[in-house]
Amino acid sequence: MTGQEKIPRWLRPAWYGLLAAAAWMLAEGMRDDFNFFPAMEAWSMMLGYMGFCLIACTLVIGPVKQWLPARWTVYLLALRRDIGIMGGLAAILHVILVVILFEGEPQLFFAGSQEMMAGWLGLFFWDTPDGGLEPNMSMVGIANYMGAIAILGLLALFATSSDRAERFLGGGTWKRLHMYNPALFLLVTFHGLIYVQLIKGEPHTYRDILWMTAAVLLIRIAAYTTTVIKRTLQQRSPD
Ligand code: HEM
Repeated sequence: MTGQEKIPRWLRPAWYGLLAAAAWMLAEGMRDDFNFFPAMEAWSMMLGYMGFCLIACTLVIGPVKQWLPARWTVYLLALRRDIGIMGGLAAILHVILVVILFEGEPQLFFAGSQEMMAGWLGLFFWDTPDGGLEPNMSMVGIANYMGAIAILGLLALFATSSDRAERFLGGGTWKRLHMYNPALFLLVTFHGLIYVQLIKGEPHTYRDILWMTAAVLLIRIAAYTTTVIKRTLQQRSPD
């Protein structure tokens, strides 16, 4: 997501101030809903949802920009990159908190937890009687594998969300890498759906996750359709 260096230097403190304020408001807005969970678990869930929502935003800014004045493009691209970085950070913090939660006292209700390995490895493996490891292929285990693939992808996007990384990789490779963003979003959708349906169930429901994903898909399909129609019309009347 490029364009950051084109934002005037004098505007940057206000820009980052606004982004920080928006992130704070998002967290504050969610807090009441998650108050009844222990603090660390509440933060882990809030950060998961923040990551999910922010990735959703990065996926609609690109399509929406074609409907907005061209002079906004620089700002929208910079916004997309910064929101992507914030979403990546939220997802990383979510995973760190989950690992801490599972390393310490088991604080989450986890279906079948009596058969799981102690510690964070239990998110991914069953304990076998001979002391070995067996991949946890329950729905929750699959949700964790999806989360793990998503976080690896998001880390790659996070690490390459700078002009320097784009120059280093070359525009084509960089673009191909960042085109995986929608696939990562879908993985996170399924990850969240499994958790919300099988384990948590509140304060959000599967409907909230599906609404967000459907809105992203619809906006992207609408933008794609608009582009195709515009191109077809241009080809028919080139002047
Ligand atoms: C190794 C990777 C991951 C693991 C092991 C993991 C694990 C978990 C766990 C244990 C929960 C349940 C409650 C809690 O948050 O404490 C959860 C929920 C959630 N995770 Fe992840 N996660 C991973 C990656 C991600 C990523 C990359 C995202 C996207 C930003 C994400 C988004 C969510 C969301 C939205 C929920 C809330 C669903 C609900 O209400 O229960 N997770 N995850």
